[in-house]
Amino acid sequence: MDQYAVFGNPIKQSKSPFIHTLFAHQTAQQMQYNAIEPALDNFKTTLDNFFSSNGKGCNITAPFKEQAFAYAQQLTPRATLAGAVNTLKLTDDGIIIGDNTDGAGLVLDLKNNHVPLKGARILLLGAGGAARGVCGPLLAEQPQQLVIANRTLSKAQLLSQIFTSFGNITASEFSELSGDFDLIINSTSASLQGQIVPISANLVRPETVFYDMMYSAQLTPFNNWAKQNGARLVIDGLGMLVGQAAESFAMWRAIKPGAKQVLNELRHNLSN
Ligand code: ATR
Repeated sequence: MDQYAVFGNPIKQSKSPFIHTLFAHQTAQQMQYNAIEPALDNFKTTLDNFFSSNGKGCNITAPFKEQAFAYAQQLTPRATLAGAVNTLKLTDDGIIIGDNTDGAGLVLDLKNNHVPLKGARILLLGAGGAARGVCGPLLAEQPQQLVIANRTLSKAQLLSQIFTSFGNITASEFSELSGDFDLIINSTSASLQGQIVPISANLVRPETVFYDMMYSAQLTPFNNWAKQNGARLVIDGLGMLVGQAAESFAMWRAIKPGAKQVLNELRHNLSN
C-alpha cells in the first residue's frame, strides 16, 4: 500500500495522521499515513529509507522544513518563495518535489470563514518562517495592502523585499502601526512564552477579523485579547492546519478532500 507520513521532532502531538486518515476514508484512497520522529541529526537518512520503502509523500513539520527544502530535487514556485517545504512528493518519474501548502491552507480557511481578501487591508504580525510561508498566497489574493510588523524590524523589511514584486507589501514596527485593518493575522510565537504581541488596542475595530495561526481548545491569548477589545470575529489556526493538509493530500492523490467534517471532528476532540 502507498505510504505517507509526517516527519517532525517531537511528533507525538501531531494531528496529521488523524486528518489524513479521515481524508483517505472520505475520498476512498488506499493509503496509509503514519507519524515518524527522526533524531535531530538523522532527518535525511530517515527520509531516504522512507522513500525507498513505498513512501510516496510526506508532510514535514518543525524543525525540519528548511532541511526538506534542501532535500527536494525540484521545488514549486510557492515553496521557493516560502524558503521552506512542508510537503514532499515522489513522482512516477522518481523525482522528489518539494511544496509548501501552509499559505494555501490559511487562504482556504479564510475563504471557508467568508473573510474577504481582495482589496482588504491586512496586517501580518511576525516575520519568521510561518509568516514567510503565507506572504505569497496572501498577496496572490490581491489585498489592497499587506503590512508586516515584527519585533525585529529588519526581518519584516527582509520579507517585504522578498515579496515586493507580488503586491503592496510594507514593513513596520509594532509601535508605529496605525490606521484601519480589515484582517489582522498573528504568526508570532509570542503566546508560547505567555506573551501578547504588543500592538495598540486602537487597531481593534468591531469589524476587524482576527486570525491566530496558533490554535487551542479555549480562545488563544491573542484572540482573547482581540475579543476583549471588541473584535466580533476571531478565528484560530485549526482550520489552517486542516487546509494545508487538504492541499498536500490533493498534491499527492490528485483529489481534493473536504475540510469541514475533519475540522468539526478535530474541534470536538480538542474540547474533550
Ligand atoms: P515560526 O517558524 O513559528 O515563524 P520563528 O521563525 O522562530 O518561528 O519566528 C517566530 C516569530 O515570532 C518571529 O517573528 C518573532 O519575532 P522576532 O523576529 O523579533 O524574534 C516572533 N516572536 C517570538 N516571540 C515574540 C514575543 N514575545 N513578542 C513578539 N514577537 C515574538
